[in-house]
Amino acid sequence: MMTKEEFTMLRDFVYEKTGIYFAENKMYLLESRLTNRLQELGFSSYEDYYYSLKFGSEKAKNEMANLFDVVTTNETSFFRNPPQLDVFRTMIKKDYCNGNMLGSPIRIWSAACSTGEEPYTLAIIILEIIESLKKNIPFTIYGTDISSKVIESARRAVFSQYSVRNTDERTVKKYFAGENNLYALKEEVKKYVKIDFMNLMEENAYKIYRQMDFIFCRNVLIYFDEKMKKKVIDCLYECLRPKGVLIIGHAESLHNISRAFKPLVFPGTIAYQRG
Ligand SMILES: C[S@@+](CC[C@H](N)C(=O)[O-])C[C@H]1O[C@@H](n2cnc3c(N)ncnc32)[C@H](O)[C@@H]1O
Repeated sequence: MMTKEEFTMLRDFVYEKTGIYFAENKMYLLESRLTNRLQELGFSSYEDYYYSLKFGSEKAKNEMANLFDVVTTNETSFFRNPPQLDVFRTMIKKDYCNGNMLGSPIRIWSAACSTGEEPYTLAIIILEIIESLKKNIPFTIYGTDISSKVIESARRAVFSQYSVRNTDERTVKKYFAGENNLYALKEEVKKYVKIDFMNLMEENAYKIYRQMDFIFCRNVLIYFDEKMKKKVIDCLYECLRPKGVLIIGHAESLHNISRAFKPLVFPGTIAYQRG
């Protein structure tokens, strides 16, 4: 059993490293997520596990990556929240039709991309626009996450039926090779997306993600407390080019977090534009 003191130590440690905040009523959740780690490493208490992590004992070498894997929630799917994707599609189309070029190449970042469905969805959307407009639109998509496990999976890009459940049949047939209920994304999509480790907690890590036209940072702010949300949003603002657009989760809001963005109101969703 995890004691209250052990919970506080580990909760603060997880927060310091990831920004993920387990509130008091989430003690059992943290406990259940860490049980297997204790068993696997042979620790008899959460306190021993904590000190090993904190002081980098031989037994807990490389454990930080496992910790990141277990404290994160990685739910995602292709074509998640269509109204937000409509905004993305419309803005890219409009910009190209008006000859009012976005960056060239267009730079897009899916920050906290989990197993890759989000950045690959964005790539498919642009490929479809290219086909319909018969125009070459150069673009690069970055997908990043803190969990090595999901990064590995995103790079493999082989998905379950569940991941493509909201994807229309035509798109599935066109961009995936299906076999045994698995859907392997084709290289023609994969090649546009660079998947990497990036911890939103680390201010220095934002430096290489500059001049973005779009940033998708969806369904991760909910795991952070207000201080961390502010820090992440401020850093993301700096990563956008002027007029670049931030999209956060549909249940998330920048209310009380930032007033730096111009809210753009669309049917069923809001996008946030850098001035
Ligand atoms: C629920 S998923 C969201 C995936 C995708 N953006 C979507 O909306 O479908 C949240 C992701 O945030 C990642 N995450 C949590 N804390 C993070 C941090 N500090 N830095 C980077 N990624 C983080 C998790 O590993 C997880 O894959």
